[in-house]
Parts: sequence; structure tokens; C-alpha cells
Amino acid sequence: MIEELVRRTRTVRRFEEKKAVEAPLLRGLVDLARLGGSARNAQALKYMIVTEEALRGRLFPLLGWAGYLRDWPGPGPGERPSAYIVCLLDATLARGPETEVHFDLGIATQNLLLGAATHGLFGCRIGAFSPDKVRRLLGLEDRFKVLLVLALGYPAETVVLEEVGPDGDIRYWHDEQGVHHVPKRPLADMLVDPPAA
Ligand SMILES: Cc1cc2nc3c(=O)[nH]c(=O)nc-3n(C[C@H](O)[C@H](O)[C@H](O)COP(=O)(O)O)c2cc1C
Repeated sequence: MIEELVRRTRTVRRFEEKKAVEAPLLRGLVDLARLGGSARNAQALKYMIVTEEALRGRLFPLLGWAGYLRDWPGPGPGERPSAYIVCLLDATLARGPETEVHFDLGIATQNLLLGAATHGLFGCRIGAFSPDKVRRLLGLEDRFKVLLVLALGYPAETVVLEEVGPDGDIRYWHDEQGVHHVPKRPLADMLVDPPAA
């Protein structure tokens, strides 16, 4: 069951934009994020839920989509995310080096995206943006640093996993039908042998 959920929880970048994501569902996903492991149990991550149409419209152009798909500028009108969860570091709560917060962020967003998938909701972590532009748009206080933007919505594309081929190319790609292919390295390639006894 966990394997099926992990396999299904893929990055999706085209959505049914008109299909709104209900506020209680989004709050519930943040609840899953907040329950994740946290270095020093600092819990310095905070989350801003953005669903309002005009604000979504101003956030969208600040985000970078699918760098490997050179001929695809990102989701078009009608297929853009219907919600965002902006992941913030609250500097007043931080302890230790910021790298630790990035571990927390991975755990929190994976909890969130796994939970989302159980509701048929998918998304994309977006790290390609100018933090200053996003913080200004969102009117954030100085104590907040924008770490990651999660784009969310009900999917309007098919994503399939495949195995990385012998050429070692890890770039995702779109086929002629618009299906998004994500190469993953085979399990055998990920295992490192311990020293002989
Ligand atoms: C930390 C992080 C940052 C990412 N930033 C972006 C991004 O800026 N734009 C984007 O389109 N995808 C982004 N992604 C999504 C990855 O491209 C995606 O995870 C990868 O292609 C593998 O697909 P999968 O998530 O379905 O396994 C990011 C993923 C992670 C984990």
C-alpha cells in the first residue's frame, strides 16, 4: 500500500485549473507537513496557502517550470495550479544551520504530497523562483524566508515512471501524446556494497 502510494505520488505540472481545492483539505495537508520529523524539533517551517485567483495569477509568472522541457513554457491558461502552499522559514524559530531546515522541508513536503495524492490531488515542488520577488508579492515580514513553492491541483496530465536507460539520461520528457515520462535509476544501481567481511 505504501509502495503504491509512493509510486503514484508523482510531480504533476498541468492541472484542471477551474477545479478549486477546498480550504479544509489544504489545511489538512499542512497538518501532515507539520507532523514530520524536524532537526532539533525546531519546527521552523511555516506555510502560506494561496488560492485567491488574482494572487495566483501574480505568483505564477515568478515560477520556473520543468527546466528539462526546453520547448514547453509551463502550464498554459486553464491548466495552471488552483492552489499554492508557500513554504517559509521563520528565522525566529530556527536553530542550527539552515541545511537542517532543508531536511525538514523534504520530509514535510513529502508528507504533504503523499497525503494530497490520497485525495487525488497532485503537485510540483518549485525551487526555481526569485525569493525576493515572491516575498514582496506575498508581503512577508522580514523574519520569513521563502524556501519552496508547492503548486497543487487536480491533474490534467498523465505521468509515468520508467527506468533510466544505458545512456544514463535522467531528464524527464514529454511524448507525442503529452504523457510525461520520469526516468528513475534502477534499484540495483542505488545499492552500494558493504566491505567484504
Ligand atoms: C527540491 C526540489 C525542487 C524542485 N524544483 C522544481 C522547479 O523549480 N520546477 C519544476 O518544474 N520542478 C521542480 N521540481 C520537481 C522535479 O523536477 C521532480 O521531482 C523530478 O522531475 C522527478 O519527478 P517526480 O517528482 O515525479 O519523481 C523540484 C523537485 C524538488 C525535490
